[in-house]
Amino acid sequence: MRYAQSKWIFPLLFLIVVFLAFSLPPYLSLEPARSRVPENTALPGQFWWLVAHVVFGSVALLGGALQVWPWLRQARPALHRRVGRLYVFGGALPAAATGLVLGVFTPFGPVAGASSVLLALLWFGTTLAGWRAARRHRFREHRRWMIRSYVLSASIISNRLWGIVIAIFVLPTLPTKIADDPQLTMWTIGGLTTWLGWTIPLLLAEAWLERPPRRPESPTPRPEAVATVTP
Ligand code: HEM
Repeated sequence: MRYAQSKWIFPLLFLIVVFLAFSLPPYLSLEPARSRVPENTALPGQFWWLVAHVVFGSVALLGGALQVWPWLRQARPALHRRVGRLYVFGGALPAAATGLVLGVFTPFGPVAGASSVLLALLWFGTTLAGWRAARRHRFREHRRWMIRSYVLSASIISNRLWGIVIAIFVLPTLPTKIADDPQLTMWTIGGLTTWLGWTIPLLLAEAWLERPPRRPESPTPRPEAVATVTP
């Protein structure tokens, strides 16, 4: 893999940095009053679950970006293994476990809750499957599972982008029965963004993984070679 072919890492890192710069401050301030998630007293210490979740989630987002970068993988295989362990045990698995708890107690309604619980389980499962495949030296399977795992990690960014699209195009069209009720409005937006956020990227990733292999190009015969076989 030539360096020039894997330059897509830079826009990806840029997107991640912008997302983190917007998302982290309320939680890193360690001030529960600044949380963007409405309080749910059914989950004791909800804010601290969120803090742990966003810290592990950030490690997963940044570490995973390095892991899927083909150039780094080939140029620095030892670093790939080290960052890989960090991605799995210091990022994706604990972020998925805390995301699962937060999903069960979400204040954004049952539709968003079902999406977050399923996403957390899939994120945990794909990451574990990718790690186990690497331990068994099944590197083709490892790559496929880790691509799924990272697409689920990065789907948090698409989730937030859907939030913007829905606020602009769907919110003004809500029937008054929903629009006049702040909780129903929040549940509607939360339900849509959580489901759209990860299902579409995962389907696209599956389609990409299943794409037919490219046929090797047949070399064009040189004119002099053609000349020698032409009667
Ligand atoms: C992919 C699996 C993930 C799941 C299942 C998940 C689940 C959740 C849940 C349930 C919440 C609480 C909001 C609610 O009650 O609905 C939450 C909040 C949050 N998550 Fe995740 N999450 C995931 C990935 C990530 C990643 C990779 C990050 C990256 C840092 C992240 C950052 C955040 C942030 C910043 C919040 C607080 C809400 C906000 O301030 O916008 N999450 N997550």
